[in-house]
Amino acid sequence: MKSIYVKLVLSFIITILLSVVITVVVTTFLSKQKLEMRLGQDMVKMGEDFIDLYGAEDSDKAARFLSNSSFIHFSFIIIDDQHEEKLLGQPGPPIPITPQEVDQVLDGKRYSNLNEEKGDRPQPNVVGLPFKENGRSYALFIQSHPQRQFSVIQDVQNIQLITILLVGIVLFAYVSTIIIKPIKRLSTAMKVVGQGEYNVQVEYATNDEIGLLTKNFNQMTKELNKIETMRQEFIASVSHEIQSPLTSIRGFSAALKDDIVSEDKKIQYLTIIEKESTRLSQLSSNLLKLASLDSEHQTLTLQQYRLDEQIRHVVMALEPQWTKKNIEIDLDLSNVQMEADKDLLEQVWLNLVTNAIKYTPENGLVKISIHQKNEEIDVKIKDNGIGIAEEDQKYIFESFYKVDKSRTLKGSGLGLAITKKIVRLHEGAIRVESKKEQGSIFTVTLPIQKNRTKKDSSV
Ligand SMILES: Nc1ncnc2c1ncn2[C@@H]1O[C@H](COP(=O)(O)OP(=O)(O)OP(=O)(O)O)[C@@H](O)[C@H]1O
Ligand SMILES: [Mg+2]
Repeated sequence: MKSIYVKLVLSFIITILLSVVITVVVTTFLSKQKLEMRLGQDMVKMGEDFIDLYGAEDSDKAARFLSNSSFIHFSFIIIDDQHEEKLLGQPGPPIPITPQEVDQVLDGKRYSNLNEEKGDRPQPNVVGLPFKENGRSYALFIQSHPQRQFSVIQDVQNIQLITILLVGIVLFAYVSTIIIKPIKRLSTAMKVVGQGEYNVQVEYATNDEIGLLTKNFNQMTKELNKIETMRQEFIASVSHEIQSPLTSIRGFSAALKDDIVSEDKKIQYLTIIEKESTRLSQLSSNLLKLASLDSEHQTLTLQQYRLDEQIRHVVMALEPQWTKKNIEIDLDLSNVQMEADKDLLEQVWLNLVTNAIKYTPENGLVKISIHQKNEEIDVKIKDNGIGIAEEDQKYIFESFYKVDKSRTLKGSGLGLAITKKIVRLHEGAIRVESKKEQGSIFTVTLPIQKNRTKKDSSV
């Protein structure tokens, strides 16, 4: 994984190297030569201007010309045809020229040592210009002092620094944009999520920290989207579950208002109204239970009690239902002492045994057994009823999921969702093995002692 840290360091090094290379190219091959050329041209121009002014009548002007501060780093030497030297302007080191070179200038040729290879030792730059005054030949030599050459080197260095700075800024700004772009994209997406739109995915190509962050962000929005869909489905299911009993209550009450309904029918209609009202009240208490189990503040009231006795008690409470269907109940309950929230666990056995009876035809068999292994117990509730197809098994623990949607077997589809939540609050597990038309086995595994170091509400 290439981290942002590595990327930043690498891009910094590359930026510096590139700017140095570009700078070296620019200054070595362009600026240095140009600067020397410019210096030479300046010196020639200076000489020409000086020659124009030089003369008996303009000597004052020429003197003023040389007193200008631009010439403080230059020496002006005039040599006549008799090789008489006259120094004007600032004195400097002796001019490195041979008498032959003086003669050449006196003969009308210009002289310059600017393009010559000057060797290791820095030599002053010299230009020589011929001119005539009152019919006599003169040679004007202008020499730049080392300070002047130093200032040329300084100019080169300044250009180098400015180039490094400019190239560095441009390259680094570009690299930063590349690094910052995905962060900006992520930030925009977060804003959208903050406004309640969860169906957002951000593309990412890198494997660095931002790539990882984007991957996690996408995972988060996917989950949020799933929760939002579940919430909407939940509301739709609740409305549907409330709506259907209310419709039948409304219908039968309207019929009862007509006097034409016989006494027998009246009793039948009233019984239906009573049943549907009970269903509504059960639904609302189940919804409340589900909400309270979901709440973060759900805590368990733990107590030591006999599990086998609790199950026996639940079976006895459901006697009217299993005797009505002539279902045989086979109990294999060893003496087990456990610590749990007694009321909540009672709800678990009630839901599972009710289902076993509800989804087993008449004359069926329901077996309930407890198996202890080390610090855990398995409670198995086995029936030889209608069974659950494999494709339905993964959904039956979800709220409102019913295999038989036709409502022939009435229920709200909340029993197993509540059961699973209670089991998980006890740090246990529930699983189902089932074959259609052959029966089902629900196995609940629970710790005998709840681990007190963990938070009770952790699910
Ligand atoms: N022992 C079982 N045999 C066959 N199917 C079962 C069994 N237990 C549960 N199911 C299937 O799983 C679905 C969900 O069960 P759950 O207990 O959550 O809801 P319900 O029994 O329909 O309604 P509720 O328990 O809320 O009154 C049931 O509708 C049923 O289709
Ligand atoms: Mg049920």
